[in-house]
Order: sequence, then C-alpha cells, then structure tokens
Amino acid sequence: MTKITKICCIGAGYVGGPTMAMIAKKCPHIKVTVVDLNEQRIAAWNDADVENIPVYEPGLSAVVAEARNRNLFFSTDVEGAIDEAEMIFISVNTPTKTYGAGKGQAADLKWIELCARQIARVAKNNKIIVEKSTLPVRTASAIKDILTHTGNGSQFQILSNPEFLAEGTAVEDLDAPDRVLIGGDTTPEGRAAVQALVDVYANWIPKERILTTNVWSSELSKLTANAFLAQRVSSINSLTELCEKTEADIKEVARAIGTDSRIGPKFLKASVGFGGSCFQKDILNLVYIARSYGLQEVADYWEQVIIMNDHQKKRFANQMIRELYNTVNGKKISFLGWAFKKDTNDTRESAAIYVADHLLHEQAHIIVYDPKVLEGQIYFDLDYLATRTPEENKKGVNVVTDPYEACKGAHAIAVLTEWDEFKDYDWQRIYDSMLKPAKIFDGRNLLDAEKLRAIGFQVKAIGTNI
Ligand code: NAD
Ligand code: UDX
Repeated sequence: MTKITKICCIGAGYVGGPTMAMIAKKCPHIKVTVVDLNEQRIAAWNDADVENIPVYEPGLSAVVAEARNRNLFFSTDVEGAIDEAEMIFISVNTPTKTYGAGKGQAADLKWIELCARQIARVAKNNKIIVEKSTLPVRTASAIKDILTHTGNGSQFQILSNPEFLAEGTAVEDLDAPDRVLIGGDTTPEGRAAVQALVDVYANWIPKERILTTNVWSSELSKLTANAFLAQRVSSINSLTELCEKTEADIKEVARAIGTDSRIGPKFLKASVGFGGSCFQKDILNLVYIARSYGLQEVADYWEQVIIMNDHQKKRFANQMIRELYNTVNGKKISFLGWAFKKDTNDTRESAAIYVADHLLHEQAHIIVYDPKVLEGQIYFDLDYLATRTPEENKKGVNVVTDPYEACKGAHAIAVLTEWDEFKDYDWQRIYDSMLKPAKIFDGRNLLDAEKLRAIGFQVKAIGTNI
C-alpha cells in the first residue's frame, strides 16, 4: 500500500494555494510543496507578513501561518518538487480557449499538457497524478497518453479529484466539505492509488463523505455540478424580470419556492448575474463537449443558462440608463463592489466588469469602491475586454479606497457585490452628499430598501417593483 509522505501541487492559485494549505495543516506528517511559474505569486505566498498572501479568503492566512515552513512550502522549483513527490496534484488554470477550434467554448488544456510533459520528463519513479483542475471528461486518457509515451519508464496512475470549494468560503469548504470526490482506474493499481488519496483526506474527513467513482464519472461530475448550480441562479434571475412586471417580489418567491424540501433554499438569491472563474467557463465547456458528440439539444439546453446570465447583466445596466432619464453621459455613477461575490478579491467574470463596460459605452463616469480589490485589477479587467483603450478606461473610471468619497456628488449608486459592510454605512450621510434625486440600484438585494426610501433615496432592487 502506498503511504504518501510528499505531495507536490503544480499551480499556486485560488485552488492550489488554499487546498494544499489545508492538506498541510491537517497532515503534518506530509510535506506539501506548491509550485508555480509565476514568481511574483510565489513570493506573495512566502511574504513575511502572512496577510499579504495573494488570495484573500476569510481564515486562510491563519491556516497558512500554521503550516508554512513546517510542512507547507511555496516554490518556483517545479522540477525539484515533481522529482521528490509521490503524489502530484495538477491545479493549473483551464480557461476558455480564445483561439482556434472551440474558441469561446472549449477549455484550453495547454497548461495541463505542459504539466504532463514536464512530469514525464522529470519523473524517475512511479507517481500518482491527481487532476485537481476542472477538466473536460476524458482528459485523463490524454494525460495518460502523454505520460506513457514521453516518460522514461515510470508508471503513472491518474486520479480525478475535482475541487468543490467556493471562493469566499474556501477554508470552511475545505475543512468540512459536503463530499470529496476521487475517481480512478478500476484496476488493482488504480484502486491502490485511489486508496492512497482517500487516506490523505481521511486525516480529517469522515470516510462516508469520501466518494470514489471511475475516473470519467468524477471528471464529468465536476462540470455538471457547476452547471446545475449556475442553472439555479439563472432560473431565479429569469424570474426577476417577471417579478418586476407583475409586482411579485423575488425574495418572497424565492422563499416560497425554497421551502419545498425537494428544491431547498440555497442558491436562490437573485443577482445582477453570476460571475467567477468557473460557472461560465465550465458550462461553455459542457456545451462544447455535448456539441462535439453531436448532442445539439443537450448543448442548447445548457447554453441557455449563459444566455440568461448575459441578459441579466445587460438588463441591469439598461435599467440604470432608463431610470437616469435615458442618458448617463458625463454622470457620476458609484459602484459599490467589483469582486464577483463577497469575501474574495477575485474578479474573474464579475458582473461588475460587464455592467461598467456597458455604462462606459454610454459615456458614464464610474467611481469604484471595493473593500478587497486593488485598483490595478479593476483597470486590468476593463482593459482585458479590449473594448476601448487603457487611456479611455482610465479616463472613464476612478478607483477610490473610501466608500463615502465614492458616493459623493454621484447621480446614482450601483451595488454589484454583496459585501456585508455596505449594509452598515451611514446612508443618511451618503444621501446628503449625492445629487438629487439620489438613486440606488441594488443588484444584490442587499440593502434595506424601506430604510433607504425613508431617507429619500429612489431605490430599484432587482426583482421587485415596489
Ligand atoms: P489560478 O489561475 O488562480 O491558478 C492557476 C495557477 O497555475 C497560476 O498561478 C499559474 O501561474 C499556474 N500555472 C499554470 N501553468 C503552470 C505550469 N505549467 N507550471 C506551474 N504553474 C503553472 O486558477 P484557479 O482558480 O486556482 O483554478 C485552477 C483550476 O481549478 C481550474 O481548472 C479551475 O477550473 C478549477 N477550480 C477553480 C475553483 C475556483 O473557485 N477558483 C474551484 C474549483 C475548481
Ligand atoms: C463555484 C461553485 O459553487 C463551487 O462549488 C466550484 O468549486 C467553483 O465554482 P464560486 O464561483 O467560487 O464557486 O462561487 P459561488 O458561490 O458558486 O458563486 C458563483 C456566482 O453566482 C457568484 O457571482 C455569486 O454571486 C452568484 N450567485 C450565487 C448568485 O447570484 N445567487 C446565488 O444564489 C448564488
């Protein structure tokens, strides 16, 4: 039976960093080395001040502080870490392809392939390779092919162990996950590799929560779990528009639906649209896989989740323009929040980016305040869209570090992220400092609309028409 004492993880991002920090914390007998090509990122993980680690997650700095330099190491020496590890996690990015066949839908597996080739080149003994990245179903066979044809005789077992953590709650999710999923070959060697990984997780996770499957079920389950979750958000968001037309209230509808135990209350919060690095990319990938098997109806079914989400973001921006008397030209609009959800500094695919882009087309002047997102990231996100020059983005958008300054002199405020602190602001002070009529567009149904109306604000909350 393989007993794991040294783990390496390739990719020190939002998944690799927190996941390995938790394994190191819970398994002090295992040496965990997280490697990345990005020197700046590794330097930040090693920063003497643990509050400067590159991923913001509540509770993460304490986990890192406990294990770092004990049995948790961050390094740019990818080959050294591969060489010494018995088990190698691949946790590199798998974004949507931006070129060639499958552009805009398929997952770009270039970084996965690079990892596989590097492992094959460096490995001098048998290793267990763990797919931690979210991958299209059947990727394990491609990895196996590369390893067996370019390796130097070492034996490899490929496991699929997708990560289900959500950003903002990563530490809780890793500490007490609903389940850990491990897929592997059904051969005796495959089963032994699965058991070796089960034994790692069993250091803190009850055995009944560790599910084992074949490798294809595991790969496909990750894509489809995200598709199901995103579908719930698009479903509730599709009803916000209907609520606004009919004077139904989406919060009441969500409560009424969610108390049905077959449906359940979670993931029914109406919003300006889902964001994050996973939902859109994974559904697009599912759509692409279905199409490539000729399953047109299956592809169309899931694609609608994305179409609905794009509609929701655009609809929010258009509503703002309409309510601001059909022009936002030169008007100051304050954005509260830029991250794709609260308690993270991640902005990938955040609805705020697309709402800002739409308003900038209409020549609005946007002031952004987010408690954890840095100024440079906000410009990076807008520049990445390539809709206008970086100079134009700089001219159209200002980033401030004080919410009261953000709202001063504004025609309207848009709430894009559900940060808790927004609820506790001195809203009278904000009202007094704004142009009148002072408008609030609450894209998260976060604020107390009644209280704000009593102050004098005109409030539009998503999915209500009161
Ligand atoms: P990320 O971009 O934050 O991190 C990936 C890291 O891998 C980067 O730092 C990059 O420099 C590094 N990298 C890429 N190629 C490399 C190579 N050849 N050698 C060494 N380092 C390399 O991405 P992430 O958010 O951590 O996501 C990683 C994977 O996990 C993706 O497949 C994603 O779909 C999946 N996932 C993400 C989440 C999430 O919430 N972010 C949740 C579950 C699963
Ligand atoms: C998601 C999955 O939840 C997680 O299991 C997977 O591993 C990675 O992808 P994440 O993207 O980090 O996690 O956050 P999540 O909490 O799922 O939120 C995604 C988006 O949906 C956010 O923009 C969030 O604000 C939005 N959302 C979520 C809603 O608009 N309403 C909801 O009820 C729930």
